[in-house]
Amino acid sequence: MQNQYLGLTPPMGWNSWNTFTWNINEQLIRETADALVETGLKEAGYEYVVVDDCWSLKQRDADGRLQADPEKFPNGMKAVGDYLHSKGLKFGMYSCDGTHTCAGYPGSFEHEFQDAETFASWGVDYLKYDNCYKPRHADGEMLYKRMSLALRNCGRDILFSACNWGRDNVHQWIQGSGAQLFRSTGDIQDNWESIRSLALSQIEKAPFSGPFCHNDIDMLVVGIHGGSNNEYIGSLGGCTDEEYRTHFSLWAILNSPLMIGCDVRSMSGATLETLANRDVIAINQDIECRGPYRIPQWNNPENVFTLVKPLSDGSLGIGMFNFGDRRSEMSLQFWDMGLSAAAGMGLSFYDCWAHQEEGVFTERYAAQIEPHGCRMFRAKVVKAR
Ligand code: GLA
Repeated sequence: MQNQYLGLTPPMGWNSWNTFTWNINEQLIRETADALVETGLKEAGYEYVVVDDCWSLKQRDADGRLQADPEKFPNGMKAVGDYLHSKGLKFGMYSCDGTHTCAGYPGSFEHEFQDAETFASWGVDYLKYDNCYKPRHADGEMLYKRMSLALRNCGRDILFSACNWGRDNVHQWIQGSGAQLFRSTGDIQDNWESIRSLALSQIEKAPFSGPFCHNDIDMLVVGIHGGSNNEYIGSLGGCTDEEYRTHFSLWAILNSPLMIGCDVRSMSGATLETLANRDVIAINQDIECRGPYRIPQWNNPENVFTLVKPLSDGSLGIGMFNFGDRRSEMSLQFWDMGLSAAAGMGLSFYDCWAHQEEGVFTERYAAQIEPHGCRMFRAKVVKAR
């Protein structure tokens, strides 16, 4: 690898699947790239533009190579990569460890080294690698190791995004495969229940995620508002802006990759504000990539809790979440974070959504959290007297 820092912090970008599924083409990718630049999202850190499933023809060429669908991508995939690179963005592509992708296009099974070379020749910087149509008797762990090895030896730095949905205890062997991120869950849907259950399923897995190998809780649904053309993703019809803020805060503090899934060409001001929140992004991108620990609210422990993430400058990322359907108090006792009031230490709170200092607190910080809402802070240890 040329870039020794490839994948150090969770990747950020945009992926075509959640909104567009099969309905993708070169124009969409170009317009998305333009929008990422014009809206400032690129500047905020979103750099990978990933073309998901349904980009190829249903057959390989005479030499066994993957070929782009000329109706969707008339200038071929290299031209797509060239355009993204000319905008200062990076090019992501999609394949699968099975014989076919989930949508029935050719998969990379037994073509791994050839496909890695093809992707390198197109200027690809990121490969999402799915898990459909894996031959029943083929070992998934081995297939991810194989593609990782192929990518690491294809002559180009290509970030490897393993996507086996948390199967085969992936968190236990993925570090050793060399992948930089691993999907740990089934597919997200554009509704609160899906966000809630995906987050809950991964909080205890925080110790398995870290620098260079990140737990991917799936792409964001922020701003889709029921607009996906995929029935599965779109079922139940979207979330409120507040729920999307909570979703974004959760993914950020859990160190998930932040891959936008909405149509950035037509997103609302509220969506842009959420996705471009640099204070929240900074917590996600902290160089140490330490997973958060959970502190439940004693009288509502299932629904109301705080996630605390130690940051490299000594401060703490703090997210207070209310998964319940009623307004609730969360009282964060500093003792639970190792802070001693007796020693005269307190915390100064900076509100990452209001973008303002809240002042210095000792012993505890109590807040009312709206249903499905959250508060997000960056807290610094200070002498309180
Ligand atoms: C799987 C993945 C999704 C998406 C689709 C494409 O379901 O988990 O993220 O890539 O395949 O068919």
